[in-house]
Amino acid sequence: MGSTTLDISIKKIDKSRIEEIDALNINFGKHYSDHMLIAYYENGHWNPPEIMPFHNLYLSPATTFFHYGQAIFEGVKAYKDANGNPLIFRPYDNWKRMNRSALRMAMPEIPEDIFIDGMRQLVNLDKNWVPTADDTSLYIRPFMLAIDEFIGVRPAEKFMFIIITSPAGPYYNHPVSIYVQDKYVRAFPGGIGFTKAAGNYGMSMYPTQEIKKMGYDQILWTDGFEHKYVQEIGTMNVFFVIGDKVVTPNITDMILEGVTRDSVITLLKDKGITVEERLISIDELEAAHKSGELKEAFGTGTAASIAPIYALTYHDDKMLLPPVENWEIANWLKKELADVRYGRKEDIHGWTLKV
Ligand code: COI
Repeated sequence: MGSTTLDISIKKIDKSRIEEIDALNINFGKHYSDHMLIAYYENGHWNPPEIMPFHNLYLSPATTFFHYGQAIFEGVKAYKDANGNPLIFRPYDNWKRMNRSALRMAMPEIPEDIFIDGMRQLVNLDKNWVPTADDTSLYIRPFMLAIDEFIGVRPAEKFMFIIITSPAGPYYNHPVSIYVQDKYVRAFPGGIGFTKAAGNYGMSMYPTQEIKKMGYDQILWTDGFEHKYVQEIGTMNVFFVIGDKVVTPNITDMILEGVTRDSVITLLKDKGITVEERLISIDELEAAHKSGELKEAFGTGTAASIAPIYALTYHDDKMLLPPVENWEIANWLKKELADVRYGRKEDIHGWTLKV
């Protein structure tokens, strides 16, 4: 893994748009770097990727993914170390996960060199766009779309793989309040909950809009049979600190195998903290809150990193957690993870890819 250098045709912009960015005040998902990468799949193989100026796409209204959602994506981040070198965090894990999503959605797998080396060269070209302020990064969005011009329902034969990048600040700038969802369902056995298929996110918009109107930030999704076991929060994996243990739902086909989730579990285990990956019921959380054992709760994801949860509401039971600033585990994890990502600490797990 990791030694190929792909020969990519690069067409550069005439003039960078970098001055559009207020480096100290960057919102998530609003600005896009100067270049993008595109590769096309047809006749059973991927054509060589190209890097070109960021531009709008011109597609037929009959393009498959518009109608049937054969579309998947990933989220990766690059950080700048103290010498100004960009470091991409765990891109191989995103590459593998993208291919698991592709398989489930009847889409072709992306070769390693297009995904990894393409991303590396794109980030290298736009390295001025990797911000340096605390809590900032370059969010990298690889995605694949089915682009047959055909509105019959069958797996497409032509696909487009694109990578765009976007300088990003914190996804949440405050701890979040969560509503336990027992009306809508995110994922069910045999479904696509473990993928980053566009539809998983599209279907969450309405339920999320509903609880936002009620004053909550995000949903805690529960299982579709009994609404008893927790799955994920919003678009993130979820962790709870109960007593001296950290618990998180075990990976099934209903849970996204988060790269941040795995990093958190690894760092906790390195520190000797017990992590249990298992079923977690709402009853257990309510009982732990009552007895004072529910000490911390947080979401993990590439975009938000570690998102502390200050309150969890289940029907009429509003469970307030102790003040976030006193939390030991989530606050330690946030710093530890940032130290590895920004190259301030030895990367003993080989997580960062130098550009
Ligand atoms: C991530 O944490 O990377 C996510 O999946 C959220 C993203 C859809 C904005």
